[in-house]
Amino acid sequence: MKSPLKSPLALQSEVSLRALNTFGVEARARAYLPVTALATLEAVRADPVLARMPRLVLGGGSNLLLTRDVDALVLHMTNRGIAVTGEDKEHTYVCAQAGESWHGLVQWTLAQGLGGLENLSLIPGSVGAAPIQNIGAYGSEMADCFHSLRAFDFKTGELLTLSRGDCAFGYRDSIFKHALRERAVIVDVSFALPKHWQPNLRYAELAQEVAAMSKPTAAEISAAVIAIRQRKLPDPAVTGNAGSFFKNPVVTVAKRDALLVTHPQLVSYPQADGSVKLAAGWLIDQCGWKGRALGAAGVHDRQALVLVNRGGASGQDIVLLAERIRQDVALRFGVSLDIEPVVI
Ligand code: EPU
Repeated sequence: MKSPLKSPLALQSEVSLRALNTFGVEARARAYLPVTALATLEAVRADPVLARMPRLVLGGGSNLLLTRDVDALVLHMTNRGIAVTGEDKEHTYVCAQAGESWHGLVQWTLAQGLGGLENLSLIPGSVGAAPIQNIGAYGSEMADCFHSLRAFDFKTGELLTLSRGDCAFGYRDSIFKHALRERAVIVDVSFALPKHWQPNLRYAELAQEVAAMSKPTAAEISAAVIAIRQRKLPDPAVTGNAGSFFKNPVVTVAKRDALLVTHPQLVSYPQADGSVKLAAGWLIDQCGWKGRALGAAGVHDRQALVLVNRGGASGQDIVLLAERIRQDVALRFGVSLDIEPVVI
């Protein structure tokens, strides 16, 4: 037995992670520990053996591609609890523990009559993972209603409180992918939900979905988002996937204009900073990949941005498919696609 098992913590060794990643690929964790509270993290840091091990923090496993066994300590965030923590004239404040499911939190807030998170309904994954990539969909992103979070800093042993500014949120980006990577573990997240709620119907397809309603409620918008997602995106409980496998690439106006000459149908979105975001799904679709497969790894037939496990795919199979797609898009459009999930 390896020394970690001598620890008083509820450690397990050689644990299968197949059911803990939404791609459903097989990989084993050398050491696995459910984190039920901040105290677990403190105990890991205090343990001379565990503190030295490389760590992989696991939430809902929905933004992760495992290509091999994980020779690390897997810290599985399982701390639960959601509560209203306060209010002022403008906002109601809600705090959720990192191990809560994101969609569960969205539904909980709606059941309390609190709007704000409805556009982010049905996004797989956990509350603690949401700030890392600043999850976004249907005209909204997590940062919009974010108030603050607490994270355990493995370097100093401190419990940090970070504001929205501290987190440096961007498109699928935050400080947790940079300065605090492999250092801080998010313990809980607080949201400021607006008391004077207004629907956010910036996303055309969502606006269309509720067009027949004169004044849709937050719960009705949530239902509309769920309907759109169910039409377009595979349910990870049925077909293994990790949502968008690539980020939408950001290019210069000059690049977009050059592409428009040869591809007048190009789908692009101007950004506030003067750059342009391209729809990666469209680029991949144009390369003929939608619905195609390479062995057990495939491209979803209704949204080319989503790679799927057609049954029994390994992480390597999916990486191979992703690489072929990246090559084709680079060759045809001269655009480099970045992978969104964390690849181990
Ligand atoms: N498109 C195609 N073919 C495809 C896919 C898309 O032509 O196979 C075109 C669509 O017709 C549309 C455009 O590309 O004109 C954009 O497609 P869509 O509205 O489906 O959104 P997306 O840009 O592909 C992003 C997010 C999704 C999010 C949706 C809705 C990223 C990487 N993805 O996808 O997020 O749900 O917008 O807001 O930003 C995720 O991150 O896992 C995710 C699913």
